Amino acid sequence: MISFCSKLRHPLILLLLMIMALQCVSATLHRVGGKLGWNPNINYTEWAASERLYVKDWLIFYFDKNMYNVLEVNKTNYENCREQEFITNVSRGGGRDVFELKEAKAYYFLSGGGFCWSGMKLAISVHQPPPQQPPPPPPASSKAASLLTLTTSIISTTLLLAFSIVLVWLL
Ligand SMILES: *[C@@H]1O[C@H](CO)[C@@H](O)[C@H](O)[C@H]1NC(C)=O
Ligand SMILES: *[C@@H]1O[C@H](CO)[C@@H](O)[C@H](O)[C@H]1NC(C)=O
Ligand SMILES: *[C@@H]1O[C@H](CO)[C@@H](O)[C@H](O)[C@H]1NC(C)=O
Repeated sequence: MISFCSKLRHPLILLLLMIMALQCVSATLHRVGGKLGWNPNINYTEWAASERLYVKDWLIFYFDKNMYNVLEVNKTNYENCREQEFITNVSRGGGRDVFELKEAKAYYFLSGGGFCWSGMKLAISVHQPPPQQPPPPPPASSKAASLLTLTTSIISTTLLLAFSIVLVWLL
């Protein structure tokens, strides 16, 4: 019985962890400026307004590394396009730089080299992720999708149940 348990326990825990991981990992990578990337003469206020940014999401800046850069600055320096007293140098030299949004707060970025004056400045506010909600009811047309959701939740529930039973059994 012991050997049966230890055989069963391992894959079950693994599966459970995988399901939990699938449900928890929801960090999003946001491409600053969309297809236009990080360039002059783009209204990043409009881009920011179109994005919903949560803690643990990432920004990615695509730009010409020979022309521009990305610096995190504070609010005053964002407003005045002052690049000298930056907080973080986001640029790594490749022209495609990522930045993790670690806190629920406002972040400010600009490009050095004076390009902030041409609109290369970005202010965003980052929010706490909303509490995990049950998936919205699927539209009537997607029967396959709802079947899939149902199947997934049945499988998750069954596995959780099996896992609890094994735990109780082992203790
Ligand atoms: C960018 O768009 C916002 C909202 O539409 C507007 O208020 C702002 O003046 C624009 N900024 C520039 C530099 O055009
Ligand atoms: C931003 O930094 C500058 C210089 O480091 C400082 O004078 C200014 O008060 C800071 N602004 C904010 C909002 O923290
Ligand atoms: C930021 O870091 C990159 C890579 O280390 C470097 O090439 C660049 O000069 C730095 N920029 C500033 C403004 O310090």
